[in-house]
Amino acid sequence: VRTVHDTLTVQSPRTATGIHQDLRHCRVGLLGCGTVGSAVVRGLAATEAADVVAVAFRDPHLTRPRELGAARRTTDAMEVVEDEDVDIVVEVMGGTEVALEAIRSALRRGRPVVTANKAVVATHGPELASLARQRGTALRYDAAVAGAVPATGVVSDLARVDRVVRIAGILNGTANHVLTVAPQFGFDIAAAVEDAMRHGYAEADPSRDLDGTDTADKLVILARLAWAHTHAWARSVTTATVDRRGVESLTPEQLAATHDAGRVWRLVAEATDDGHMHVAPVELPAHHEFATVRGPRNVLEIEAAMAGRLTLIGEGAGGEATASAVLRDLDALTRADGVKTLARR
Ligand SMILES: NC(=O)c1ccc[n+]([C@@H]2O[C@H](COP(=O)([O-])OP(=O)(O)OC[C@H]3O[C@@H](n4cnc5c(N)ncnc54)[C@H](OP(=O)(O)O)[C@@H]3O)[C@@H](O)[C@H]2O)c1
Repeated sequence: VRTVHDTLTVQSPRTATGIHQDLRHCRVGLLGCGTVGSAVVRGLAATEAADVVAVAFRDPHLTRPRELGAARRTTDAMEVVEDEDVDIVVEVMGGTEVALEAIRSALRRGRPVVTANKAVVATHGPELASLARQRGTALRYDAAVAGAVPATGVVSDLARVDRVVRIAGILNGTANHVLTVAPQFGFDIAAAVEDAMRHGYAEADPSRDLDGTDTADKLVILARLAWAHTHAWARSVTTATVDRRGVESLTPEQLAATHDAGRVWRLVAEATDDGHMHVAPVELPAHHEFATVRGPRNVLEIEAAMAGRLTLIGEGAGGEATASAVLRDLDALTRADGVKTLARR
């Protein structure tokens, strides 16, 4: 008896998203092996159907997770993208130039890409999604928004069947951690940022976390998913068009006064279906749902005509939380193609 799997294997060696159908293992090419990449390596080692076969990083002398085993190692991201053994490219290196070229090149080759790179997706998402469609492959980026919170999936699923009217949330784990711990550091933002870096929540250069740009990137990504198919404004929206202010705009005196009044600051992003989008620190009463979201946690509130108000809360930053979203995207790709799923060993 021939199964669907056999039929697909006979008809096409590569499937809709470009994964070899007859694979026993899904072979991952990993771009970046830092906070998120190392957690992806460890997470994949616990699954039964995927292996990292090639990995790129900058510094050949740093210690890497032992679970990388015999994976080919290089400092040239393009070598991983061009590696014939790679089925899916996972981009967790960050930055915009090399990462963008690597993602483009992988998609041009018909290789599916999973990325956590909000800067690249916010700026080049539509172009990359269209390239993926042309080449019959897929680009997934759930890890780019709100860490472990399944933000992109919920918003796009809702938008297909319901009318999303508003999205609001706390979408930057570093800024939220900084606002949460500021009282412990005498309201010194720089000291609170150092604490976020020690915990692995902050980017190497945290300026985009602190000035609201990273939050605006994520709001743009969600607004496109919610409205680009129905509202012209959402097709041209960019991070630069989002009215934004970050936590760096708050003075120690403002932080202390709010704390003394029993209230809290949160960096809140909001978008509505009329195209109004902004990111700004907001002073909230301590019992407000957003005020109770502390440290690197994120919250996403979605209002839709039929569903009403949904609230998702979870870890918004950190290697493992972000890697969890990467693994979900990888699993979705392999399931879509009928190859073995990433079920844990
Ligand atoms: N950390 C988080 O909580 C978090 C949350 C959500 C999304 N993200 C996103 O995930 C991505 C990775 O973040 P991360 O925190 O894991 O960063 P990271 O710890 O700085 O790791 C970056 C990795 O990429 C490598 N790399 C950087 N540039 C490279 C280049 N040009 N060629 C080859 N390798 C290069 C680095 O090599 P070396 O190890 O040799 O330096 C490192 O292994 C970013 O897009 C970030 O925005 C992170």
